[in-house]
Amino acid sequence: MAAIRRMALGAVALAAAASLAAPGLAVAGKHRSDPPVRQPMLIQPIPESELRPAAPRVPVEPVPTRRPAAPAPGQDRFYDASAPGMPRLQRANEALAGFPVDRAGFVDWVRALGEKRIAPRAGVGPVPDPAPHDLDVVMRNTKEMPWVRFPHLAHSQWLDCASCHPAPFAEKAGAATITMERIFRGEACGMCHGKVAFPAWNQCERCHSVASAGTTGAAAGGR
Ligand code: HEC
Ligand code: HEC
Ligand code: HEC
Repeated sequence: MAAIRRMALGAVALAAAASLAAPGLAVAGKHRSDPPVRQPMLIQPIPESELRPAAPRVPVEPVPTRRPAAPAPGQDRFYDASAPGMPRLQRANEALAGFPVDRAGFVDWVRALGEKRIAPRAGVGPVPDPAPHDLDVVMRNTKEMPWVRFPHLAHSQWLDCASCHPAPFAEKAGAATITMERIFRGEACGMCHGKVAFPAWNQCERCHSVASAGTTGAAAGGR
């Protein structure tokens, strides 16, 4: 009995000594009693003789903003080169020289329309021109991405309201449940984007253009 009491007293004395030595680590049972082990040096300094100067940074090439007059590589690959009409066919580079392009190199049709480089017709017959409708819908279910601005003006310049209302979109902001997966599957915005309008896979910022908490709209995506 006496021996046990002495042992317990000894333990108290030890704990007191440890708390004196390292007051910050005085939590009973949690402090380490041994001095920290020195790790062997894993990263060895490179000997002076083997040092090479760092390669200079490659400057980022400016992205072209206009379609060049020269043929784009592979622009004729969709045509039958042996077809008799081939020589008379207007080439894409002739038709599109000087057209504005977006960051990914796709013709920016909204700007082309604004610059009056194109004048699309509403239909073959006497169809009234679509009435421009200037209403932006900001969509905020974008996780860490900037919010999406859906511009009615850019769309209603060439699309009838019936292209989108009542299907696939109800005429009510916030009604649609849109995800990128659906868009990539060709649903919602993907009905057109990726088919007849610019695709969604590398120009995130054309849709995700509204800065939200912690993001800058224009800085999203790409290069
Ligand atoms: C390219 C597709 C598209 C076209 C074309 C289109 N809309 Fe929309 N419209 C939308 C989308 C997307 C929304 C938002 C739906 C949502 O948030 O769920 C919307 C929402 C609306 C709303 C609801 C706005 C609100 O604040 O609740 C109205 C009204 C509307 N559109 C009218 C029109 C009219 C009028 C036209 C024709 C001039 C038109 N839309 C053409 C896609 C389109
Ligand atoms: C019915 C077809 C259609 C649908 C559906 C559609 N778009 Fe578009 N969108 C177009 C066309 C056509 C253009 C113009 C051509 C281009 O820029 O490639 C365009 C252009 C745009 C632009 C460019 C505007 C600018 O000023 O440069 C944005 C942004 C855009 N769409 C967002 C969306 C979003 C977001 C949705 C889904 C809520 C959507 N679109 C659904 C056809 C559509
Ligand atoms: C054609 C327009 C368009 C383009 C281009 C686009 N997005 Fe989206 N994105 C949307 C719309 C619309 C939503 C749904 C917003 C809502 O419902 O509030 C969305 C939602 C999202 C979401 C949240 C929902 C989800 O699917 O997880 C993420 C993350 C996202 N986008 C990432 C991206 C990235 C990354 C890119 C570029 C590779 C991109 N988006 C390009 C239109 C676009």
